[in-house]
Amino acid sequence: MNRIQNNIVVYLVTVTLLTATAAFAAESPDVIKQRIGTGNPVAGKTRSELCQGCHGEVGLSLEDLIPNLAGQYANYIAKQLRNFQTGSRTHQIMSAMATTINDAQLIDIAAYFASQPKMHGNGKGDNAVAKNLFLKGDAKRGIPPCMSCHGENGKGKAPNIATYPVIGGQHKSYLRAQLTHWRSGERSNSPDGVMNKVAKSLTDPEIEALTDYLSGL
Ligand code: HEC
Ligand code: HEC
Repeated sequence: MNRIQNNIVVYLVTVTLLTATAAFAAESPDVIKQRIGTGNPVAGKTRSELCQGCHGEVGLSLEDLIPNLAGQYANYIAKQLRNFQTGSRTHQIMSAMATTINDAQLIDIAAYFASQPKMHGNGKGDNAVAKNLFLKGDAKRGIPPCMSCHGENGKGKAPNIATYPVIGGQHKSYLRAQLTHWRSGERSNSPDGVMNKVAKSLTDPEIEALTDYLSGL
């Protein structure tokens, strides 16, 4: 390779790296604002000190069974907290935690975590089984493509559609627990039971493949 070719290679590698970095950083203030909803992220930051002990200062937890909240939709976070309060979703720790805050506080806390840069994985975990289910589903077994609701790369459908949570870049063990619970019916708080239907016929190896894939996105 001569020197000019060499320089071109260096240039191309640099451009590729910069583009990859920009893809993570490129969230416009408008997009983030829609995700935050009506709460006050500044007040929420102070209110969420207790939560940060488990969910991380910016909503990136260090424990694989504790979900990341960074860049999750505020309205989704708020819905889950209300579901924990009323008992339509149950978890030993979270059912107790959710009763320590009132509705105004939970809206602000949700806004704080939503205002953070979106969670993302390490790019590992790519596999054909999961990719196929994620992008195409399996109509014969009544499994719709995950992407149709959870959006490209599992990062959500659109900035203003908070029904469908961000699942790309979420922790593997947490995802596995949720999919197993949707399948068994232990978790049943999705609108019209949609996630119970989606997960009903997933096999254990498919859940392993999907959670590998999703946690890497
Ligand atoms: C002692 C650790 C701990 C503390 C403190 C804690 N959480 Fe959690 N949180 C968890 C665990 C574990 C889960 C997973 C529950 C499950 O598996 O269903 C969870 C789940 C959640 C979820 C559901 C996320 C999703 O993707 O569906 C939300 C929202 C949440 N917590 C918010 C909070 C808020 C707000 C606080 C503070 C008031 C808080 N948590 C305090 C451990 C904790
Ligand atoms: C028809 C729409 C739809 C499809 C298709 C769908 N989901 Fe969901 N999913 C939802 C909704 C809605 C929720 C939020 C439920 C709630 O409000 O508690 C959800 C929640 C989840 C959660 C829990 C996230 C969390 O933070 O706790 C996981 C994991 C999940 N979906 C995985 C999948 C996978 C994997 C697929 C494909 C096999 C899939 N979903 C297909 C609508 C869908």
